[in-house]
Amino acid sequence: MAKKIGKSLCITSAKGGVGKTTTLINLAGTYAKLGKKTLIIDFDLTSGVIAVALNKNYEKSLVNLADDIDNNQYNSLNDYVTKYNDYIDFLASPKDPRQAGRLDARYIDLILDRAVLAYDMVLIDTNHNINEINLSLLERVDNILFVMTNDPFDIKNLKSLLSIFRDLGKTNYKVLLNNAVNPFKNYFTLYDIKNILKANIDYTLSPKFYIRNIDDYIMAGKIILLEDKVERKFANEYTTFMTMASDFILEEEEHEG
Ligand SMILES: Nc1ncnc2c1ncn2[C@@H]1O[C@H](COP(=O)(O)OP(=O)(O)OP(=O)(O)O)[C@@H](O)[C@H]1O
Ligand SMILES: [Mg+2]
Repeated sequence: MAKKIGKSLCITSAKGGVGKTTTLINLAGTYAKLGKKTLIIDFDLTSGVIAVALNKNYEKSLVNLADDIDNNQYNSLNDYVTKYNDYIDFLASPKDPRQAGRLDARYIDLILDRAVLAYDMVLIDTNHNINEINLSLLERVDNILFVMTNDPFDIKNLKSLLSIFRDLGKTNYKVLLNNAVNPFKNYFTLYDIKNILKANIDYTLSPKFYIRNIDDYIMAGKIILLEDKVERKFANEYTTFMTMASDFILEEEEHEG
């Protein structure tokens, strides 16, 4: 019987600080709740914070993996991942940001080909720069999630990115409007934003999901979506995360067979 192959999702944006990493961590928590084995890859190579957000020490990073592939010392992805819980592992970004340049785009296929064999879902965190690594990731993954905020600069830049996607005929993306990262920003209506972007907003996180003490969770390495009573306290957001999670894991299976 053919082995089931996992899906990959890259979380990106047109602007920094819009909640990509926070969304990714909560999405990983959602997949864990669904019993899906999830690998987080921290491709924010110069400023990755996945290990900080999960409050985990790690021995090996993506750069060790790349070096070992080059030196024919690579054996198994397992040697480089750090375990968070029974469902979530992560591959860390390099400790020294100067090492980021050692990881070029040719490793992406090697890493992702192996990752989807071992995990149900591979979640990739990035920064918002348009560089070779990020473009290769966007090209390679099954799906892309653009996280955006209600911010004129963000909307302007995302409009440009989405129009490039349209020109290229790329349709494997969804847009999340994150009103939780800065609940006071509400200049544009949803109608305005869709009109400017000429795109649909697939998911929204409401200002109610602004977590005043989010740093308590970060410093303790806790994932909000895995906390007790979250289903009641943040019922709408819980549903949004569940919807996102199932959209990205199911999408292509529907076309199979
Ligand atoms: N729901 C929330 N409630 C409160 N604070 C939040 C929330 N989501 C994100 N933040 C805070 O906003 C800041 C930016 O979030 P985050 O790091 O997830 O964004 P990012 O898009 O990954 O940033 P970067 O572009 O630097 O990678 C962080 O300090 C984070 O803790
Ligand atoms: Mg980030």
